[in-house]
Amino acid sequence: MASRVLVEVAHPLVRHKVTLLRDAATTTRDFRQLSSEIAGMLAYEATRDLELETVEVETPLERTAGWHVSGKKVGVVPILRAGVGMLEGVLAMIPVARVGFLGMYRNEETLQPVVYYSKLPGELAEREILLLDPMLATGGSAVDAVRICKESGARSVRLLSIIVAPEGVAALHDAHPEVDIYCACVDRQLNDIGYILPGLGDAGDRLFGTR
Ligand code: PRP
Ligand code: URA
Repeated sequence: MASRVLVEVAHPLVRHKVTLLRDAATTTRDFRQLSSEIAGMLAYEATRDLELETVEVETPLERTAGWHVSGKKVGVVPILRAGVGMLEGVLAMIPVARVGFLGMYRNEETLQPVVYYSKLPGELAEREILLLDPMLATGGSAVDAVRICKESGARSVRLLSIIVAPEGVAALHDAHPEVDIYCACVDRQLNDIGYILPGLGDAGDRLFGTR
């Protein structure tokens, strides 16, 4: 039951792209592109154990054995706003996944998450839910997002985050130890206003060019 799994995807391409993503000089357009590409690679790792069934396929030359993904269906749930930047990359890997949205932002003073929107896919209990949020800072948003998914029937949730702080990992695993976390980098710490160091700044603002 208490698995507390944290997978840091240390692939050279992921490391390269995360470094570009952190760079304050990276443009909004490139930030969007990089977020999507990194998310695709996190999804690749997070779906390693998807079940397969054998099928037959007719190539132009002969019939041969192949595989289809079977078993659990996938639901992808980006947390607004910044999680939206990861959606396209994940759907490029899993085009048949159903998509839901959770809208939440952090109150900048209390750092507590405020939920303002929820629209989740049907048949949640039968789905592997991939929650998308590029930043796991205090963990408040992710803890609430998982709680909402579970209250709506989800039985299996994984979190895909580009950068995580140790504080956020501990908070999420204390609240929901069965939620596996897939990230591109575990950073050093939070600063005194809840930003990840070294981090990449405000992911939503950098993604959408706001502020
Ligand atoms: C950011 C980020 C996470 C949250 C992480 O969202 O995308 O959702 O902060 O912080 P936490 O782990 O301390 O909860 P933000 O509140 O900035 O909203 P936005 O994506 O709409 O900009
Ligand atoms: N949200 C962000 O966008 N960046 C952080 O460093 C922490 C929370």
